[in-house]
Formats: sequence, C-alpha cells, structure tokens
Amino acid sequence: MTSILRSPQALQLTLALIKPDAVAHPLILEAVHQQILSNKFLIVRMKELLWRKEDCQRFYQEHEGRFFYQRLVEFMASHSGPIRAYILAHKDAIQLWRTLMGPTRVFRARHMAPDSIRGSFGLTDTRNTTHGSDSVVSASREIAAFFPDFSEQRWYEEEEPRLRCGPVQYSPEGGVHRAAGTGDPGPV
Ligand code: RTP
Ligand code: MG
Repeated sequence: MTSILRSPQALQLTLALIKPDAVAHPLILEAVHQQILSNKFLIVRMKELLWRKEDCQRFYQEHEGRFFYQRLVEFMASHSGPIRAYILAHKDAIQLWRTLMGPTRVFRARHMAPDSIRGSFGLTDTRNTTHGSDSVVSASREIAAFFPDFSEQRWYEEEEPRLRCGPVQYSPEGGVHRAAGTGDPGPV
C-alpha cells in the first residue's frame, strides 16, 4: 500500500516593483503597499533604490527593439527618481500580483479593471505604476537582479517553512514580515 504524504502548498515568490511615477506620490505609494498587505502577501524583502540605465537595459532585454523599449528604460532609470522593489510571497504570488496590477495598458486597465492598481493609478502605458514577474523562471532571475544577496534556496530551507506555518509578524518600520520569534531577516 502506498501512503501519500500531503505537504501544504509551498509559498511562491515574485518580484514586484513600484515604478518612479508611484514612488514619487506618497499617497499612491502607501495605497499600493496597503494593497499588498490586504491581499495577504508576505513581504519577504523590500528596498528603495535608484536604478542605473545599464541595469534597466539588462532587466528589460526581452523587449529590446520594441517601440516602447527606449522610453521604458529612460523612465525607469534614476533621473525619474527611486523605485521600490519587493520580494513577495504567497501561494499564488505571481498570478495574484499580476491580477492586482491589471492590464499593462492603462486605457484597457481603466476600462476592464478600474479597481486594479494600474486602473486606479496608471498614468500612461509606460508610467503604469508597477511591475510583476510573469513566470517562476522570470521571478528567480528578477529577484536575483534586485536582491543579489538573497538566496532563494536558503530562504526555502530556512524561512519559508516558518512563514508558511506561522505565526508571522509584520514590522511597520521595516515594512517586512518575519516568522515570530526570529530576528532580522538578514542581508538584502
Ligand atoms: P511588467 O513587465 O511591467 O509587469 O508588465 P507586463 O508584463 O504587463 O508588460 P510587458 O509586456 O512585460 O511590458 C513591460 C513594460 O513595458 C511598458 N510597455 N509599454 N504599448 C506600450 O507602450 C507598452 N507596452 C509595454 C510598460 O511599462 C510595461 O509594464
Ligand atoms: Mg512583463
């Protein structure tokens, strides 16, 4: 007889960015952060940074040659102001974050998903408030690009089981969740 060991579904990670148009507006920044919390994501890491043009070019390499590539790279680079990067965890992190963001193009977002983040706050197709990884492979690559000291493997071994099984604390000062009784989540 075979016995089936049912393990609870592991948390999935995604990279979420808040783009410069939204970071520049404290109320929008806070509203997006609250959406993350109210949708029960765990915030694994968070930081704000200015992004160098070379890093933007590498990040958006898949879009090189498309008509919007140049303006996207220019917009995301440091002269537009800081961006905020999150590693988010949830059982369905990638799809849930993309659903919350809404359609890429703001006209569609306003009509088809007016309550989505882009439908609510997006300004143009380029200045569309947020970014989200589109697959597990992209999420790993993008997390490594923004958080080079974060080891996904170590996180799955050490932090994920405790976060998944709880209890979990949210620290408003640091803006991250951690398993209760643990200290600093380590270097970002
Ligand atoms: P993202 O990567 O930002 O999460 O958005 P996405 O998957 O919905 O869209 P993607 O096709 O990957 O495009 C990346 C970013 O390029 C800009 N974009 N502008 N028609 C346009 O002018 C256009 N299309 C795409 C957006 O800023 C989009 O988020
Ligand atoms: Mg994309």
